[in-house]
Amino acid sequence: MTTRIIGTGCYAPEHIVTNEDLTQFLDTSDEWIRERTGIHRRHIDTGEGTTAMAVKAAQRAIENANISPQSIDLIIVATSTADEIFPNTAAMVQKSIGNNHCTCYDLNAACSGFIYGLNTAHAFIKSGIVETALIVGSETMSKTVNWEDRSTCILFGDGAGAAVVTKDETGIESIVMGSDGSNGEIISCDGRIMENRWGKRPVKNSHMIMDGQEVFKFAVRKVPEAIKELLEQANIDADQIDHYLLHQANERILSSVAKRLHVSMERFPVNLSEYGNTSAASIPILLDEMNRKNILRRGEKMVLAGFGAGLTWGATLLTW
Ligand code: UT7
Repeated sequence: MTTRIIGTGCYAPEHIVTNEDLTQFLDTSDEWIRERTGIHRRHIDTGEGTTAMAVKAAQRAIENANISPQSIDLIIVATSTADEIFPNTAAMVQKSIGNNHCTCYDLNAACSGFIYGLNTAHAFIKSGIVETALIVGSETMSKTVNWEDRSTCILFGDGAGAAVVTKDETGIESIVMGSDGSNGEIISCDGRIMENRWGKRPVKNSHMIMDGQEVFKFAVRKVPEAIKELLEQANIDADQIDHYLLHQANERILSSVAKRLHVSMERFPVNLSEYGNTSAASIPILLDEMNRKNILRRGEKMVLAGFGAGLTWGATLLTW
């Protein structure tokens, strides 16, 4: 018995910011951004927030799965940009979709969040604790970046993606997850400033800081390693995989991973041009787009893989 994805959904805010728009207030160019990242535009939240986007993606996934919301036993929302400290985002999604009994929690593994959520739900299902779970990746990255820092802000966008999974004979075949906190400072974002009357921490700005080149090196080393481990566990060769759905951070990272695995870039779908890097939402948005375009065929093998702040990484091999 394993875990199968039976429905997907996604949502991105209507407001679009093009590379050209960014040149109005940043020393950058459309050409630089396209060539170095593959990004043309991104969807930016103008006030809905992480929860509302999560709800829309979740509703679409539930509709696509054709299940009753009350049959969901577990909701995990992967996010590092929750609107509120509490209640958690998952509980607010639960309320909006019409479920009043299941286990709900948020999970923060930055851009690896959806994979962490999917693999965690799989562990719950495989152990028999739950039968059906909803995993959502939802992010308002636009509130974490410094819009005056051209080396980071050009990369990110907002959006949400979701998947419904349930107990089945076919589905997830192997999983890999890991973290290395010792190198976490290469991509970080401060949390809330301590506000009690005894606090001694200096007031710092809370924008994301990132050493782009170091994150790039980490990704092109760690992602192929994690995928190789995943394939070895399932005794499958890299060329037997039909689709590699990687976290959408930079097109050059995707092509480096493809090269290291000796797999054609054609098997690595890319939607960066439209969304930029939406962190935990990037993989489920891509998955939903492929599902709705009827690109995925029952029985095909897929690898999903993410990496990000922490540093964290995770991968899932499944049969669609
Ligand atoms: O989910 C994980 C999140 N993070 C990532 O995945 C980030 C991974 N890293 C990257 O994607 C790339 O490192 C970046 C896209 C962030 C940067 O690309 P790069 O090829 O590593 O550029 P660089 O940092 O080496 O900068 C090259 C030049 C520098 O100018 P000089 O020193 O050569 O004169 C930068 O100042 O490009 C300059 N630059 C820009 N120029 C125009 C940096 N950002 C920009 C910009 N527009 N937006």
